[in-house]
Amino acid sequence: MTPATSLFTPVEADLRLLADNLKQLVGNRHPILFAAAEHLFGAGGKRIRPAIVLLISRATMLEQDITPRHRRLAEITEMIHTASLVHDDVVDESDVRRGVPTVHSLFGNRIAILAGDFLFAQSSWYLANLDNLEVVKLLSEVIMDLATGEIQQGLNRFDAGISIETYLQKSYYKTASLIANSSKAAGLLSEVSRETVEHLYSYGRHFGIAFQIVDDILDFTSTTDTLGKPVGSDLKSGNLTAPVLFALAEKPSLEVLIDREFAQEGDLEQALALIQDSQGIHKARELAAHHAKLAIEHLAVLPPSESHQALINIAEYTLSRLY
Ligand code: IPE
Ligand code: IPE
Ligand code: MG
Ligand code: MG
Repeated sequence: MTPATSLFTPVEADLRLLADNLKQLVGNRHPILFAAAEHLFGAGGKRIRPAIVLLISRATMLEQDITPRHRRLAEITEMIHTASLVHDDVVDESDVRRGVPTVHSLFGNRIAILAGDFLFAQSSWYLANLDNLEVVKLLSEVIMDLATGEIQQGLNRFDAGISIETYLQKSYYKTASLIANSSKAAGLLSEVSRETVEHLYSYGRHFGIAFQIVDDILDFTSTTDTLGKPVGSDLKSGNLTAPVLFALAEKPSLEVLIDREFAQEGDLEQALALIQDSQGIHKARELAAHHAKLAIEHLAVLPPSESHQALINIAEYTLSRLY
């Protein structure tokens, strides 16, 4: 099991049900889609997004059980996330995900793009069937945001001039939008007040930004074995993340290496050394901690409960992944 599992105690049974359901929802219209789904949903994803949806559902439904719609929302959230990873791995040419070979490395790029499209389409269909127009709007915006973020990242490759604000905006599109909007949608399904709904959105937004910054730091500091996906690939492919942007302010020579796209021998190693020798990783950690703290503050709107506490713990766990 993933290290995050014990954090999810209040929704552990819900998550087990979700895992079974996800494979069934994708169905077996085509053996390859079935194989891709079996492969992805059976593998070691952390399931942080559906856990958050389920915990918010429980934290906002203290007097009653959560509804089948809450559960379906959690499934849709994981489905959208997984679809985005299948496409992301094609774009990044990554061979491993969740500790197993990626869909495109097993079945080829064409199948991976089609399988990702199918998952997006399937999630839209289940979304529409929730029969809640506001929730449909929120989650369809997420699907647009994911594509916007991926395009923005592609256009900014090797651009050492991008600001931290641009990076944070891209991180919102690629990562935080899904968590923010699905958190908000969970509140809407529980029919909580407008004010609470907005706090839930902000929890998800800040949590998502912190989560992406941590992921970007781990790309420099962790190992493929620990993460179940390749490390060290962001810089090489010109995806300039928080540690690099902070390091650039201190080490002007880093810009020269990035501008020539590490074309000369030893460039990449030299760039990595400059980043390690700078405050880049430290400053990125501080930025992640700042957003995790803001996320937790927005939870104050919820009454005390085990699920409320778990949502706080998840935000803290995200930072602890760095140590
Ligand atoms: C990976 O997300 C993509 C990012 C937004 C950093 P996760 O780290 O949640 O991936 P899984 O679902 O556990 O595989
Ligand atoms: C998040 O960013 C991926 C998506 C939300 C599609 P990354 O590109 O950092 O994700 P990993 O590192 O490949 O999981
Ligand atoms: Mg990637
Ligand atoms: Mg990453």
